[in-house]
Amino acid sequence: MCGIIGYTGPLEAKTILLGGLSSLEYRGYDSAGIALFQSQTLTSHTVELIKTTGKVSLLKELCDSTPLLPSGCGIGHTRWATHGGVTTENSHPHQVGRVTLVHNGIIENYKTLAETWNFSKQLRSETDTEIAACLINQFYENDPIQAIRKALPYFEGSYAFCILFCDHPGEIYAVRKISPLVAAYTPSGSLAASDLTALLPYTKQYFVLPEQSIAKLTPYRITIFDENGDKIQPELLTVNWSMDAAMKNGFPHFMLKEIHEQPQALRNTILPRIVDELPNFDSDQIPDSAFVHVNKIQIVACGTAMYAGMVSKSLFESMLKIPVTVSIASEFRYEDPLIDENTLVIIISQSGETIDTLAALRLAKEKGSVTLSIVNVKGSTIARESDYVFYTHAGPEIAVASTKAYSVQLAALYLIACRMALACGKMTLEEGKHFLQELLCAIPAIDMVLTKKEEIRHAVSHLTSVDNAFFIGRGRDYAFSLEGALKLKEISYIHAEAYAAGELKHGTIALITDQVPVIAIATQEAVYTKMISNIREVKARGAFVILITKESASIEEGIADIHMTIPNLDDSFTVFPIAVILQLIAYYTSVKKGLNVDQPRNLAKSVTVE
Ligand code: M6R
Repeated sequence: MCGIIGYTGPLEAKTILLGGLSSLEYRGYDSAGIALFQSQTLTSHTVELIKTTGKVSLLKELCDSTPLLPSGCGIGHTRWATHGGVTTENSHPHQVGRVTLVHNGIIENYKTLAETWNFSKQLRSETDTEIAACLINQFYENDPIQAIRKALPYFEGSYAFCILFCDHPGEIYAVRKISPLVAAYTPSGSLAASDLTALLPYTKQYFVLPEQSIAKLTPYRITIFDENGDKIQPELLTVNWSMDAAMKNGFPHFMLKEIHEQPQALRNTILPRIVDELPNFDSDQIPDSAFVHVNKIQIVACGTAMYAGMVSKSLFESMLKIPVTVSIASEFRYEDPLIDENTLVIIISQSGETIDTLAALRLAKEKGSVTLSIVNVKGSTIARESDYVFYTHAGPEIAVASTKAYSVQLAALYLIACRMALACGKMTLEEGKHFLQELLCAIPAIDMVLTKKEEIRHAVSHLTSVDNAFFIGRGRDYAFSLEGALKLKEISYIHAEAYAAGELKHGTIALITDQVPVIAIATQEAVYTKMISNIREVKARGAFVILITKESASIEEGIADIHMTIPNLDDSFTVFPIAVILQLIAYYTSVKKGLNVDQPRNLAKSVTVE
C-alpha cells in the first residue's frame, strides 16, 4: 500500500516523478505529493513540497500551477491512508528540519517514539511517518547515512523510505524493511520505487534493495552500504515485461485489458514448462524430491489468490490422496498450524509482498515445512524467501481487481498437482499427458468466452440497480463462486456473497426475494441435478437467475432468466472460462454504474500493511 519513488539525474525530476506516481497509483490513491530540490544558487538549496488529497492527476495540475525552478532530484508518494485521515497535512512527503521523506509501511511504535522524544509540538500531521522524519532529523549532524543508521533501530514495523537531506542536493537515501523497494541506475539517472512499473520506461535491469542496507542515489551511481557501512553489490535482475504491458493499449480500463490477456498469460506460464508433453520444473529448479515425502499440503494466501487455492484443493486431494488445507494468511499467521517437515506449504501471491502472506511463509519455515511460492513479481520478498518459487508469467497486473493473476495461479497449481502426482507415482505418464492436454483446452475455451462479451455486457443490466447478489454452486463451482462474489463486490460495490448451494436452505434462502440476482454455476457433472434443484428453489422464490453451464447441459424452460454457456471441458478445467465470465460480469456492472473500475474505493493493489 502506498507507492514511493525517488529520482535524481539529468532529466526534469518533476516529470519523472509524476509519471512514476501514475504507474504506482494502483498501490494507493487517496492523496499524492512530491518534493523537489530547488537550488537558488550553487550553495543555497531548499526542498519544496507539493501535495494534495486526491489522485495524481490533481497533483499534476497543482504542480503546473506552482512556480518551480528546474530540478533534477526529488521524491514522490501516492497514499493509501493508514494513520491519519485523507488530508493534505497527512499526505507525504513529510518535512522536519533538514529531512524530507516518503514512506511505505507502518511505524507501529510511532506514539511511543513521539512521547519518548517529545516530538508532539513539532508535528503537523497525524501520521506515523512524520515521527520517522522527526527521529532521523534528530540524529542528523550533516551525515545522512549516520542519521538513518542511528534512527533505524527505533522503528518497529515495516518501511521503505526515500529521504532527502536539504544540504545534500542531488542525493536520495533509500532504506527498507519488509516493504518493497526496487532501484536502478540508468543512462537517464538513478531511480528507486516501490515497484518495477515505475522503472520500466527507463530500464529492464534493476535490483531489490537488500533489507537494512542503505542506498545512496546520485545522478551518476547508486552506492549501497550494509549494516557495517561496507559497500555491497546488489544482485541485478532483468525483467521481460515491456512498457506496453503496463499500458492500456487501447482498452478503456486495465481490468478489461488484463481479462483479455489471460489466454496469452496462460500460454506463457504453461508452455515453457512442458517437456515431452509433461510438466517439467527443471528450469524453476523445483526437484521432485521436494514432493515425494509430502503427506499434507497447506495452501496459504489472501483474497483472490486464496480462492485460487480453494479451487485447487479438490484437485490435489483427488490426484494425490493426501489432505489439503487452504488458509487465509491473516488467520494462519496467528494460529499454531499443524504442519511439519512433511508438509508442503504452497504460498500464493501475485505481488509477492502481501504482508500477511509473507508472515505465513515465515511461520511455515519456522515449522520446518517445505515452502513453494507461486508468485508473479520477480524478485519479490515472498519469492526470495521461499524454498522454491514457481513464477507465473502474467506480466504486470495493474487493475486492483485481480484477473489474469488468478488464471495463472490456477494453472500453476494444476501443473504442480500433475507434477507431484507423477513424482509420487499417483499418475501414469499417459494420464499426465492427458491432463496437460485438457489444461491446454482451457485456453481456447477462454477465447470463446471473450467472443461473447457483448452478451455478458447486456446480461448485467439487471445487476446495476441491486444492492445484493448471490453466487451459488456445488463442489468446485462453489469455489469459483467465491471469487465471482469477491470480484463483483470489490468493483461494483454490490453486496455479493457466495454460498454452497446445498447450504441455502439452512438460512440464506430467507434473503431470496423477488428479483434478487442469483448467479448459479452448474458445471460439475456429479452434482448437476442437485444444483438444478437448488436453482428451482431460488427461482420459486422470485430470484433473477443467471445460470452458467456447459454447452452440453440441457436446461429446462423457465429455470433461468439468463443462460450463459462455456465450452464442454472436463469438470476439473471449467474454472478457466467460468472465471472469465465472472470477471466480465463484475467489469460490466462496474462500468454501467459509472464506477472507477481500476481503482475501486478504499482498496489498493498490494496490501503491505496488516
Ligand atoms: O498480491 P497478492 O496476490 O498477495 O494479493 C492478494 C489479495 O490482496 C488480492 O488477490 C485481492 O484480493 C485482489 N485485489 C482481489 O481482486
